Amino acid sequence: MEIKTARFLMSNSSVQKCPDPNMPEFAFIGRSNVGKSSLINMLTNHKKLAKTSGRPGKTQLINHFVINDNWYLVDLPGYGYAKVSKNQRNKFQAYISDYIINRENLYCLFVLVDCRHEPQKIDMEFIEWLGEKQIPFALIFTKSDKLGKNQLHSNVAAYKKQLRKTWEELPPIFMSSAETGFGKEEILNFIAETDPS
Ligand code: GTP
Ligand code: MG
Repeated sequence: MEIKTARFLMSNSSVQKCPDPNMPEFAFIGRSNVGKSSLINMLTNHKKLAKTSGRPGKTQLINHFVINDNWYLVDLPGYGYAKVSKNQRNKFQAYISDYIINRENLYCLFVLVDCRHEPQKIDMEFIEWLGEKQIPFALIFTKSDKLGKNQLHSNVAAYKKQLRKTWEELPPIFMSSAETGFGKEEILNFIAETDPS
């Protein structure tokens, strides 16, 4: 798929205020600082469409973008950001989980994990929860430019092994780099194939 147009539509903190669910939607989530906003910019060929930062906790709202005038791309806040208060974290979890469960046009939730790290409890629990709620999701290993090819593949293999302990079938899995553009075509093709329109 070629991305011809990408524009910011709106930010909000509740699924009720999201735009009409009249087009397929693909959203990006994962721990703070994993590279969600950077990946969105890479996929859409924009340097500054989604706001990025070296400090975790940059994205705080549900951000809708319209791509090619026929699908929504959504940048979500990160989870697991230690510096926010427990109260703030609970609030966050409530509106994000509400969005994930109730957004009827959500075709796929991309869960991003940093390719350098071993499976983290918080990601495993989140993925488990997606399974319980039957939310369609795919995994993306980000920042692949930070590892050599062999290390990258062995980390992904270790992650898959861990997933197989609880999942009979693995989700679609991608690797990406916002620095080099690696993974772009595969992810965009997957989106095009998932969207029957
Ligand atoms: P929050 O919105 O805070 O949850 O973070 P985020 O997941 O949106 O991360 P963001 O895209 O803001 O990137 C966080 C940091 O990681 C920034 O300093 C980026 O430049 C860096 N980064 C993101 N993707 C990549 C990548 O593929 N390769 C490298 N080398 N750095 C990356
Ligand atoms: Mg962000």
